Amino acid sequence: ANAGGIPAAGRLNWSTRMAFILAATGSAVGLGNIWKFPYITGENGGGAFVLLYLFCIALIGIPLLIAEVMIGRRGKHSPPDAMRALAKEAGVSRHWSLVGWVGVITGFLLLSFYLVVAGWAVSYIFTAGTGAFNGASGDDIGAMFGRLVGDPVATTVWGSVVLLITSAIVIKGVKQGLERAVTTMMPGLLVLLLVLVGYAMTTGHFAEGVNFMFNPDFSKLTGTSVLVALGHAFFSLSLAGGGMMTYGSYLGKDVSLGKTVLTIGVLDTLVALIAGLAIFPIVFANNLEPGAGPGLIFVTLPIAFGQMPMGQVVGLLFFIMLSFAALTSAISLMEPAVSFLTEKKGYSRLKAGSMTAAGIWVLSLGSVFSFNIWQDHTLYGKTFFDVLDYLTSSWIMPLSGLAMAVFTGWVMKKTSTQEELPNGMTHTLWRFLIRYITPVGILAVFLNAIGVMG
Ligand code: PHE
Repeated sequence: ANAGGIPAAGRLNWSTRMAFILAATGSAVGLGNIWKFPYITGENGGGAFVLLYLFCIALIGIPLLIAEVMIGRRGKHSPPDAMRALAKEAGVSRHWSLVGWVGVITGFLLLSFYLVVAGWAVSYIFTAGTGAFNGASGDDIGAMFGRLVGDPVATTVWGSVVLLITSAIVIKGVKQGLERAVTTMMPGLLVLLLVLVGYAMTTGHFAEGVNFMFNPDFSKLTGTSVLVALGHAFFSLSLAGGGMMTYGSYLGKDVSLGKTVLTIGVLDTLVALIAGLAIFPIVFANNLEPGAGPGLIFVTLPIAFGQMPMGQVVGLLFFIMLSFAALTSAISLMEPAVSFLTEKKGYSRLKAGSMTAAGIWVLSLGSVFSFNIWQDHTLYGKTFFDVLDYLTSSWIMPLSGLAMAVFTGWVMKKTSTQEELPNGMTHTLWRFLIRYITPVGILAVFLNAIGVMG
């Protein structure tokens, strides 16, 4: 079952098709869906932004996710070498490996701030579990969050805990543990999100929340909204961070790429929309600001936990599952670098994992400090954390996506991509999207952003 592509000996392989789907869904569903999507939707005025986002997922994200997993599976190496192998197969410059490099580095950069937010989530397991939210007012809860992020030592410690657990799992090998974590935690998270939507319905502001999310008012978009929507499609689908390419390299030929990727995309989008439906009614019911920024879920959901029956248990479970969702994404952000160092430099997983973790830890301090001692050090009004997030999601990832679209759509031989997508109709549709719609879409968004800024 390994026809076509570049063979490589001794690679780790997923035990089943399901293992890959779970790991890839675990990578996609994370803080991006529950923490980031609601807060950027709030900052960008709601419905029109959501609509733009859905277009980006369907026309750019899904075709590119097929492309990225395809590159990994056919290239059968960590991202830089997978790209180099396929460039060789297509008879073009080996410098295409740059695209793989960018993926590895992007994963590294993303993880440095991702683990900080994941650390907030882990610390809230304890805040929720001890009943601190019970009966607390919106102001109290806002102050609690302010105290947490304002404390550089505490947030460094929580972030380090996340990094330690992530590294331990990556060093052990992603196959073990990941599968079980995803099968139990993902459905649990979905159920709890639905419970929260149920609570949101009792606030008397549910219709307002739905209206905010689904009634597009294009006048509410800001200059960079389109770019942010595109960037988030990349972030949320784990595109161009090296992770999906690496997971694809462990995948056998017998799996249908089209169906698998579509499932992942639909699940990922559903979780984000449900999270929004849980959060915005609470925002309006408590006179909070939808554009409150990165703290949005940490100052809205605890209000619900403090008021609803059994809220202490629900809150506790929610933050446990959110932490797991973040962990399965963090693993996929670290795996590309570790896979690269073991494959290329011959390091043990322990050495590669420890080195990667040390680098990420140092960089993460910049994001920790962005909410306290460095909060006034800004560039164009953006903190270190904001700059890192904006550069990776809105610029580096879409640019590298553009390169992957050109590579799989124009550079790779049609016979090669056909081998990866044997269903004729799927291949025709995918090839049309990846050659024309995806690259033109990305370019149009870039031109718009440059026009707005310039
Ligand atoms: N998709 C993850 C999330 O939504 C984040 C991520 C981005 C993971 C890029 C891997 C690569 O939380």
